[in-house]
Amino acid sequence: MGKGFFISKAVGVVLIIVGAGALATIIALSVVYSQEKAKNNEVSPTHATTTTTSTGTTGTTGTTTGGPTTPPSNETWDKYRLPTTLKPDHYNLTLRPHLKPDPTTQIYHFTGSSSVEFICESETDLILIHSNKLIYYNQTNGQMASLKAVDPGHNAPSIKSTFLKTETQYLVIQLDGNLMAGQRYQLHTEFIGELADDLGGFYRSEYKENGETKVVATTQMQPTDARKAFPCFDEPAMKAVFYITLIHDINTTALSNGEQASQENIVIDGETLLKTVFKPTERMSTYLLAFIVSDFGYIQNSVDGVLVRIFARKSAIDAGQGQYALNKTGPILKFFEQYYNSSYPLPKSDQIALPDFNAGAMENWGLITYRETALLYDEEYSSNSNKERIATIIAHELAHMWFGNLVTLRWWNDLWLNEGFASYVEYLGADNAEPEWKLKDLIVLNDVHRVFAIDALTSSHPLSSREEDIQRPEQISELFDAISYSKGASVLRMLSDFLTEEVFQHGLQTYLKTFQFQNAVYTDLWHHLQMAVDLTESKLNVSKIMNTWVLQMGYPVVTINTATGVVSQKHFLLDPDSEVTVKSEFNYEWIVPIKWMKTGAVQNQLWLEAKSVTIEEMKASGDAWVLANHLVAGYYRVNYDDGNWNKLLNILNTNRLLIPEINRAQLIDDAFNLARAKIVRTELALETTKYLRMETDFMPWESALDNLDFFYLMFDRSEVYGYMQDYLRNQVTPLFNYYKTITENWSKVPTGHLDQYNQVNAITLACKTGHPECITLATTWFKDWMTTEQNKIHPNLRSTVYCNAIAAGGADEWEFAWKKFQNATIAIEADKLRYALSCTKQPWLLNRYLEYTLEPKLVRKQDATSTIVYIAGNVVGQPLAWDFVRARWEYIFNQYGGGSFSFSNLINGVTKRFSTEFELQQLEQFKKDNADVGFGSGTLALDQSMERTRSNIKWLAENQENVLTWFKTEAER
Ligand SMILES: *[C@@H]1O[C@H](CO)[C@@H](O)[C@H](O)[C@H]1NC(C)=O
Ligand SMILES: *[C@@H]1O[C@H](CO)[C@@H](O)[C@H](O)[C@H]1NC(C)=O
Ligand SMILES: *[C@@H]1O[C@H](CO)[C@@H](O)[C@H](O)[C@H]1NC(C)=O
Repeated sequence: MGKGFFISKAVGVVLIIVGAGALATIIALSVVYSQEKAKNNEVSPTHATTTTTSTGTTGTTGTTTGGPTTPPSNETWDKYRLPTTLKPDHYNLTLRPHLKPDPTTQIYHFTGSSSVEFICESETDLILIHSNKLIYYNQTNGQMASLKAVDPGHNAPSIKSTFLKTETQYLVIQLDGNLMAGQRYQLHTEFIGELADDLGGFYRSEYKENGETKVVATTQMQPTDARKAFPCFDEPAMKAVFYITLIHDINTTALSNGEQASQENIVIDGETLLKTVFKPTERMSTYLLAFIVSDFGYIQNSVDGVLVRIFARKSAIDAGQGQYALNKTGPILKFFEQYYNSSYPLPKSDQIALPDFNAGAMENWGLITYRETALLYDEEYSSNSNKERIATIIAHELAHMWFGNLVTLRWWNDLWLNEGFASYVEYLGADNAEPEWKLKDLIVLNDVHRVFAIDALTSSHPLSSREEDIQRPEQISELFDAISYSKGASVLRMLSDFLTEEVFQHGLQTYLKTFQFQNAVYTDLWHHLQMAVDLTESKLNVSKIMNTWVLQMGYPVVTINTATGVVSQKHFLLDPDSEVTVKSEFNYEWIVPIKWMKTGAVQNQLWLEAKSVTIEEMKASGDAWVLANHLVAGYYRVNYDDGNWNKLLNILNTNRLLIPEINRAQLIDDAFNLARAKIVRTELALETTKYLRMETDFMPWESALDNLDFFYLMFDRSEVYGYMQDYLRNQVTPLFNYYKTITENWSKVPTGHLDQYNQVNAITLACKTGHPECITLATTWFKDWMTTEQNKIHPNLRSTVYCNAIAAGGADEWEFAWKKFQNATIAIEADKLRYALSCTKQPWLLNRYLEYTLEPKLVRKQDATSTIVYIAGNVVGQPLAWDFVRARWEYIFNQYGGGSFSFSNLINGVTKRFSTEFELQQLEQFKKDNADVGFGSGTLALDQSMERTRSNIKWLAENQENVLTWFKTEAER
């Protein structure tokens, strides 16, 4: 950082006299500078104070006592949770984003003014309001805020001092006297913030259209960045009404949660601008606010009086890319109205696709924001998987309009219920919109199996956390993980299944009605579900059952001995030697609903409520066989005695359709994971793949590929690799030929949604195992594109074809794809190329690509971590990516840390192949070396990576030889 950025106190005072524009820029500059210093810890806190003083701070005690070196103190402002003394009623908020940078400094900023009216609940002489990276100023007298009482007969005490507390993110206002309980007050502030490209709070997104760079001002508040846009009581239970006004350039459109109330021209500093006033919002949480200024286009329709609009870059709208989302939004909204028995709470539903967006989408109430790939569909470029993602994400966000937005969880510790719920019902909503797709089944692959892998580690955590354990913003961010989303979805699906959907829905409906516009805790939902249960004959106790799933981590493996009828359960741990240090009040036992089949016929559901019981009906002799967890409705794995396993393997080979498709996928997934946990032999797991020569359905294949991924990670650097490739090539060849036939030599698209997926699997595995015809196919198609500049590859197949062609090719293929990536006008196509670029086998290309990931002009910030993870997924790229992440950790962490949820993905992604002592040491060293920088939302992932590495080391030592023998025998058969 150049010296010129530093502002001395003397200079600062002078600057206050210059015009607001220049002042704003200087202040924005100083924000950046002080943030930079806080990160690097290079400059002492005294300097930071000076910077703040120059902008008119009256009291500076906060900044000097702040910082990591000061001992903890008991002051109210050192606590991360707001005191309960004040409660907001409404805000009058005006914001003006400047979409052009300051000509001299090139810094973007926004200015704002906010008045919040709050009620004093108990007497206090202190006002704490969240504020992060905002600078306050009052050109008249240098006060940071002003206060007045609402009741004309009452006077507000005067302000003694104001200061910013950066650590806990407060604007602190100390008063000369007390605010009186029952009185209302209004606090007024004026402030400036940087409109940075950091994807959090009020930020900017950039894109090119017709050769011109355009800027969008947009927001991402969840979880704790509303305070980065304006001072607010930034906790989900501090609901209020928001009166929002945006001031913006003449040729732009302003959007917010509410409908537009009025618009007029105003002149500021000789410049004519638009002032857009929005109708007041409903009572809502700060994290659901959104403000957007852009010159986007839109399309609209109306669904029973609700205005539905899709916004995106003009060229995307003109190309019709918003049409699919528009068509599906109405039906999905109607579905949820019926599901919740509650009409959509707002008059409009806007959805907007943003070029830069960190998460997949955000459920801001009435103005949902998306990544472009999650909203925009183009038949020419989008695969069926892209289309499915759009339908499910829209359903997820619309589900939140009630569950989450209308009724909000009181604090972030219950985030799992909010996200788990939406992640479950997204399948119901999307299924309703696309009934042909068999979407509901896919939750088993996408969520249940996915989170099983994480929840089988001792470093997992329970769904529910205690409120007092979740305080800091990083702790809150860390909750946005697979446990909250996928395990939450899995156990809610199980709950809905054993209660029946009618009872579940009924309880849900009374819950929503009771708590609308308010807040709740997860036990409130249990209570309402129980009331619904009590209206029926059932004696089920919702909280007693659910406590075992929600309050302890992990899940059981249920073992059924069909010889004796003994059914028992045990905490399933991927590494059986790992030690569970966290005690559970349920001793890691669960109340398990068991749906099952005997010899192909579905039986009545049973409950396993003890460690072990004998169930006569579970005995199976002769040809009879048992299969439990029918349709994988339950969140657990199943193991059997050898005899029953052999019968199941036999059925797979001889009469597989007796077993539902989901359960065929389950058998493979359970066998592979039980083998990893040393509960069954690895050979048994491998045996489940033998019948795949006959299998054409998607789910079992997908399950097998997911599990074989682990074998690739463990063995693609060893002698097992060759035999494994021979065996798998042999197994996939019938599937490859099957698709070749039904697509008439790859000229047609299979009709079924899941068949289309399995076609991709067939090509991916055939090419991966070096099937010559497959590689020729991929390279020929790609070459044809390179020579004719006409891309004839079907969108469904592009990812895998690009990847295989680039892997088989050299610099020419890579450069061609890179050029196409740079010029792609639809993000969905760019994403496919971005992935495929990671497939090259050339280390120098991969290293250069890694460098590109940290240049936002080349790879958007939102895509940096996933690109690094793609590269690490490539056996050649793995060591390069790990070196890269280690060398740049501090930089990556600081540049990409704010508002980012993907650090755990990054750490898990670059370390998932780790399986040697040496790699474990490197991980430990990495943790040590960066202890002072920190790992933010990746902290837990780092521990999980070490646990996984240890378990991999042991697994390899015990299995390498027999796996080699097995593949060798099978390959030579
Ligand atoms: C904080 O307050 C508690 C109880 O009021 C007291 O026991 C403790 O010593 C205080 N700690 C500091 C650092 O002042
Ligand atoms: C917000 O604006 C309305 C209408 O002008 C006014 O009645 C109300 O007092 C204002 N509230 C605050 C906190 O300034
Ligand atoms: C700035 O100071 C003037 C005069 O004291 C006051 O009227 C105004 O409300 C102040 N503005 C803010 C944001 O505190």
